[in-house]
Amino acid sequence: MLKAKISALGCYVPPRVLTNFDLEKMVQTSNEWILERTGIAERHIADPDTATSDLAVRAAREALAQRGIDGSDLDAILVCTVTPDMMFPATACLVQNQLGAKGAWGFDLIAACSGFVFGLTTAAHLVASGTHRKVLVIGADTMSRIIDYRDRATCVLFGDGAGAMLVEPAEDGSEGFIGFLNEIDGSGGQYLRMPAGGSRMPPSAETVAQRLHYVHQDGQQVFKYAVRKMYEVSRDLLARHGYTAKDVAAIIPHQANRRIIQATAERLGVGCDKMVLNIERYGNTTAGTIPLATRDAIAAGRLKKGDLVLFVAVGAGYTVGANIWRWAY
Ligand SMILES: CC(C)(COP(=O)(O)OP(=O)(O)OC[C@H]1O[C@@H](n2cnc3c(N)ncnc32)[C@H](O)[C@@H]1OP(=O)(O)O)[C@@H](O)C(=O)NCCC(=O)NCCS
Repeated sequence: MLKAKISALGCYVPPRVLTNFDLEKMVQTSNEWILERTGIAERHIADPDTATSDLAVRAAREALAQRGIDGSDLDAILVCTVTPDMMFPATACLVQNQLGAKGAWGFDLIAACSGFVFGLTTAAHLVASGTHRKVLVIGADTMSRIIDYRDRATCVLFGDGAGAMLVEPAEDGSEGFIGFLNEIDGSGGQYLRMPAGGSRMPPSAETVAQRLHYVHQDGQQVFKYAVRKMYEVSRDLLARHGYTAKDVAAIIPHQANRRIIQATAERLGVGCDKMVLNIERYGNTTAGTIPLATRDAIAAGRLKKGDLVLFVAVGAGYTVGANIWRWAY
């Protein structure tokens, strides 16, 4: 089997910023509450004419430019999102067309906040099979379109953004993909979902009036599950490959809540300096958080060629995923 490596990264967030102070004017909340309970200070929000494929294409173009290739070099495009432009065609098709990726196939991957980790796992195996040489994994979400800005318990949490990583064969066997541990647990589906708009509850005047096309969440249930599973899956994956958290240069977790990330570090027996945190500036961008945090880790000199990195996420579904890679550039 070939080994896959990540060879390029691109990111995009829309320019408009929604601060906690802006939210104070929209719902009964305060900057102090949001900062203390979540770690978020601001998030980026797409303009009305911008959809998920637009964010995805901007991130993808940056990754392709970094690698010096264009869309026609891609073999597959995976778009991890819970906010596709529309139910179908898949956002991957819209992105493929925009990128001029004539020879590529692809699909959308719905795993919410674990989407990017599941996408990386899939890409690593497509490359390992020897049938694909360049797979672009994009995590892109326009959460502002499915957030109820009258619900203070959810509207403060989310932002819009996208990131893309190129996965291709590693020439050097010592770098690239090491392993994964992914799970789904549908018994938790009720705690975080968008109830209407699908085949169970098609759109109607009633579903709109009842605000069922927005994110509904039992925050405490999700919080408890996330704290437990972020730790367990990280511990078990590291152990499977003979590592502990101390061996990793950086742990890049999904950014849902600073307290979840701090609790994960504590349980893993490492300091918070091991965790990459940028939730303060972006909030929870769902499938976008891991590439956005990776970009910040690289910029800060915390992730360099040869370093061991752990990506870990928990999301709606429930979905849980972790990957270990030896960083290749
Ligand atoms: C949503 C979350 C921040 C709420 O924090 P919490 O400490 O659990 O807060 P609670 O839900 O217990 O609410 C505590 C109080 O704060 C209130 N509150 C909720 N949102 C508020 C806000 N934005 N501003 C002020 N008060 C708020 C609640 O109404 C509640 O008031 P009450 O005690 O009078 O009923 C937290 O549960 C969380 O982060 N959950 C996980 C979310 C997540 O990760 N989702 C994505 C998964 S990938």
